[in-house]
Formats: sequence, structure tokens, C-alpha cells
Amino acid sequence: MPALTFVQATGERKIVEALVGESAMHAARRNLVPGIVADCGGELACATCHVVVDERWLSALTPRSASEDEMLECTAEVPTSCSRLACQVRISLELEGLILHIPRSQK
Ligand code: FES
Repeated sequence: MPALTFVQATGERKIVEALVGESAMHAARRNLVPGIVADCGGELACATCHVVVDERWLSALTPRSASEDEMLECTAEVPTSCSRLACQVRISLELEGLILHIPRSQK
């Protein structure tokens, strides 16, 4: 099971074990990571699962879809080039060690 690290704006880190094939959002929710509300349950309709991918990991992820880009315009915090919706980040073995930052506005 790949380990993911979620980093709060305070610097607090939480390492969780993710299942291959699930989304980073589901891994966060299963492990009670603060700041990932995921109101829509992963239907790409709420933007409350906004995370900022550690820059070193950006190229390991599949690119954002047009729908994800559109929904990122609805996030509470201004998105960056490293922003993703955690429900759209599918976990694979290659993502062992992935680091995801949670925006300050999501507590
Ligand atoms: Fe709603 Fe990701 S959980 S957009």
C-alpha cells in the first residue's frame, strides 16, 4: 500500500496508507485527514478536495482533465499550477511517498 503524506498549512503532517486504485480523496477521508471535506463524494462537483501536489511529484500524476480544470476555478483558495482535486488523483504503486499540501482555507 503506497504511503501518502498530507501536509496541513501549519506544517503538521499525516502519513496514510492508500489502496491502489482508490483516489487520494478516499484515502484522506478513510484516515480522517482534516481539510478534505469532499462534499460531492468524488463526483467532480464540489472542489472541497483541493490539494496542492508537491512540485517534485507533479510529473508522476496523470494530467488534469478539462473538467477538473473547470472545477478548480471554484476552490476556496486560488489554485496554483500544482493544484489538483484529490478525488481525481488515482493511487498507484508508483505514487509511494506522494506529498499533498492542504490549502490554508481548508481546515
Ligand atoms: Fe467533490 Fe472532489 S470530492 S470535487
